Amino acid sequence: MIFEKSSTRTRVSFEAGMFQLGGHALFLSSRDIQLGRGESIKATARVLSRYVDGIMIRTFAQSDVEQLAEFASVPVINGLTDYSHPCQVLADLMTVRERKGKLEGLKMCYIGDGNNMANSLLVGGLRTGMTVAAATPDGYQPDPQALAVAVEYGDHFTLTNDRFAAAKDADVIFTDVWTSMGQELEAAERCRDFAGWQVNRELMSYARPDVMLQHCLPAHMNEGIAEDVFEEHVGEIYDEAENRLHVQKAVLLLCMEDK
Ligand code: CP
Ligand code: NVA
Repeated sequence: MIFEKSSTRTRVSFEAGMFQLGGHALFLSSRDIQLGRGESIKATARVLSRYVDGIMIRTFAQSDVEQLAEFASVPVINGLTDYSHPCQVLADLMTVRERKGKLEGLKMCYIGDGNNMANSLLVGGLRTGMTVAAATPDGYQPDPQALAVAVEYGDHFTLTNDRFAAAKDADVIFTDVWTSMGQELEAAERCRDFAGWQVNRELMSYARPDVMLQHCLPAHMNEGIAEDVFEEHVGEIYDEAENRLHVQKAVLLLCMEDK
């Protein structure tokens, strides 16, 4: 497990999950391995493939994960990039299905920054038969590559800067932080640009009465999400965090079971 960014959930769920499955996981901070001193992704992929049965990486550029996968002879798992967070979204979809009994036909709403979570949620929600309404402030839309996939789903997908319209009759509302890892220098500017975009009681009142609220965590409390709304939905938010463990185990089995 190579980490170029911090992690609590991803690190612990993969490490505990691997142990529960009878395997062993190594935590490799990029600061401590030669990757952090300039050894290439290509060389890292080649050498790690001689020692281990799979590689999970959390990094900045999506292209780094793709290059790792190209040169590794073992499975490579994306543990978050600036572009996407697929393992999180598998846990998110699992949590919605657990609570609602289905995914198909439900309305997912994403409110906030068009970041890695937004990109992966749009694709994950649409692929599992949900309708997806995303609301992002102007200038913070999801990545064009994710949008290109989303628009193939026609009127099952909408993107707007009207957060109340997006939240209307939603079965589940997802949100995330305004400032992601690596964007810390933009934090003040982002707080200004996202003023009024907090997921709070007013916004939640547009959704269905039985709406679920999901957050990948960590949350910046009373910034992107109001603490009272968070606490009202705390059970399902921590179910979502717990499901990282179960989903990671499924991903590990799918990738590495025949070893
Ligand atoms: N949601 C998530 O990926 O959390 P961590 O950053 O703690 O791994
Ligand atoms: N968008 C957040 C997700 C953290 C799990 C980030 O990239 O920091």
